[in-house]
Amino acid sequence: MRSKRWLAVLASALAIAAAGGCERTPATGPAPSRAPDVHYEPTPHSVVTEMLKLAQVGANDIVYDLGCGDGRIVIAAVKALGARGVCVDIDPLRITESRANAQHAGVAERILFLNQDLFETDIADATVVTLFLGPSVNLKLRPKLWRELKPGVRVVSYVHDMGEWQPQESRNVEGARGPRKLFLWLVPADRTLAPE
Ligand SMILES: C[S@@+](CC[C@H](N)C(=O)[O-])C[C@H]1O[C@@H](n2cnc3c(N)ncnc32)[C@H](O)[C@@H]1O
Repeated sequence: MRSKRWLAVLASALAIAAAGGCERTPATGPAPSRAPDVHYEPTPHSVVTEMLKLAQVGANDIVYDLGCGDGRIVIAAVKALGARGVCVDIDPLRITESRANAQHAGVAERILFLNQDLFETDIADATVVTLFLGPSVNLKLRPKLWRELKPGVRVVSYVHDMGEWQPQESRNVEGARGPRKLFLWLVPADRTLAPE
């Protein structure tokens, strides 16, 4: 009985790996309060470094990763650049994983872990926001970014743009499955410029 269950888990894991690794990893534990808006897929570490460079993250920053997965972006910002961070994920398994990774890296005390729907997170004190979500989620999130973030806050997105909100800068990077884009926006002081 037990070995049958493990075989089913293994078969499902192999199917996910074959499909490209962006489905939720099968695991036991508390379920998310609702289905995540996008499946888990980590940003390659080399791209994380580029994201933090593009946002010019430094020791005075508070970096929010909205949908933080295993916490790698925030952990790198804290460990390598001396920032503080907030790791937000709707999936409790990801938060458990992030916290364990941060503890392993020795930076957990400089990171706040929030098992929340990112649309409900208070992001007002962010100085940098990192995203690897999806095109429609980015568009849905855009008004919240404009409403809650202070002028000059840097928003960096891997792969997906923000529709009519034109980036300040974009860069080509090598993703896990080929060339991808990174985008950087600065939140403007003039909120009347907000795209519809
Ligand atoms: C593509 S992964 C990116 C993970 C991480 N940011 C990275 O770049 O390595 C997207 C993450 O967003 C989380 N997520 C999806 N919808 C969410 C929501 N509404 N609120 C919070 N987290 C969400 C998923 O659980 C998943 O861990």
